[in-house]
Amino acid sequence: MSSESTSGPRLREALKGIPAYKPGKPAQGADGAPAFKLSSNENPYPPLPGVLEAATSAAASFNRYPDMACAALIAELAQRFGVPASHVATGTGSVGVAQSLLQATSGPGDEVIFAWRSFEAYPIITQISGATSVRVPLKADETHDLDAMLAAITPRTRLIFVCNPNNPTGAVVHREQLERFLDAVPSDVLVVLDEAYNEFVRDADVPNGVEVYRDRPNVCVLRTFSKAYGLAGLRVGFCIAHEPVAEALRQTAVPFGVSQLAQDAAIASLRSEEALLERVAALVAERERVVSALVAQGWTVATTQANFVWLRLGERTTDFAAACEAAGVVVRPFAGEGARITIGETEANDLFLQTAEVFRKTL
Ligand SMILES: Cc1ncc(COP(=O)(O)O)c(C=O)c1O
Repeated sequence: MSSESTSGPRLREALKGIPAYKPGKPAQGADGAPAFKLSSNENPYPPLPGVLEAATSAAASFNRYPDMACAALIAELAQRFGVPASHVATGTGSVGVAQSLLQATSGPGDEVIFAWRSFEAYPIITQISGATSVRVPLKADETHDLDAMLAAITPRTRLIFVCNPNNPTGAVVHREQLERFLDAVPSDVLVVLDEAYNEFVRDADVPNGVEVYRDRPNVCVLRTFSKAYGLAGLRVGFCIAHEPVAEALRQTAVPFGVSQLAQDAAIASLRSEEALLERVAALVAERERVVSALVAQGWTVATTQANFVWLRLGERTTDFAAACEAAGVVVRPFAGEGARITIGETEANDLFLQTAEVFRKTL
C-alpha cells in the first residue's frame, strides 16, 4: 500500500481552516437557578397552538418523504408577497438557501463581498464554495460601508451579501443608500438582501427587499421562519429571486431538505400572522425598553432594528459574557469585539440589565 492510500480520503483543500460555526450556548442554570438563552436570536415564545397542531399532525406521516417541491408553502408565500411562485425557492433555513446561492454563483477564483462583522456563516459557506471572502469593515456607527463595498468589487466578484438589519450589530441600511448602491453594482453580480430580522424593523426608511428586488434581476431577498415566526428548530427559510436565480436554487437544493413538519408549520404560521406579529410587537417593545435602560446606565448602544442588542465591549467581552452567565443569562460573545444579546422574555431581559448595570461600573 502506498502512503497515500493510508492517509484517508482526499478532502478538498478549500476546507482547510474553515472557522467552526459557533452556535449560541445553551442555558444551564445550576441547582434550579433561572437560566435563559439569549445567545441565538431565537423567539422566546413557544409555538402558537395552531402551528404546533399543524406540525404534530404532519409528524403522523413522517414515514413518508415531504413534498420535495414545497408547492403548498411556495403558493402561500407567493400570494403573501405578491410575487410569482416561480420566484420563490425554499431551503433548510435561510442559511441553507444562502449556501445554495453560493453554489449557484461562486467557486474557486471568485469573490464574495460582505460587511464585517456580520452573520458568521457568510465566511464559512463562502469558503466551502471555494470562493474567497472579501470582508469590508463596518463603519464606526456599526452600519455597512456601502461605498467601500462598491470599491471592493472586481471582475471576480460574484455575490454580495447585504445583511439588513445586520447581525450582530442590529444596524440598518436605508432605502436611499441601498438604491444608490444597487444602481452602481454591475448587473452580473448577485446582491443578496439577507432580511432574517425584517419583521422586527420599525424604522420606516428601511426598505422591504421584496419591493427592491422587483425591477432588479440581480437582486434577491432571503427570509426565514426561524426568528419572528419562532420555527428555528424546524429549519425552513426562503428566497425571493428572479426566475434564473430561483431556478438555480431549485437545482442546487438538497432534495427533500425541508421536512413536511416544517412546511406545514410554516403555512400555519403564515395563516396565524396576526397573533405572531403581536408577539413580535411585544419583543420590539422589550427591545426599546432594554435599549433605554442601557443608555440610562451609561452604555453606548448601536441603534438596533433587530431582536438583539450589541455592546462593543472590546477586551472586556468575555468577562461580560461570564458575568451574564453567572447571573443566569447566556449571551453571545465575539471575543475582543463585543457581545450580542437577544431580546427574550421580560425576566431574562431584566436579569441581563441587572448584570449590565453592575458590569458598567467596572469599565
Ligand atoms: C442574518 C442572518 N441570516 C440568516 C440566518 C440563518 O437563519 P436560518 O438558517 O435559521 O433561517 C441568521 C441566523 O442567525 C442570521 O442572523
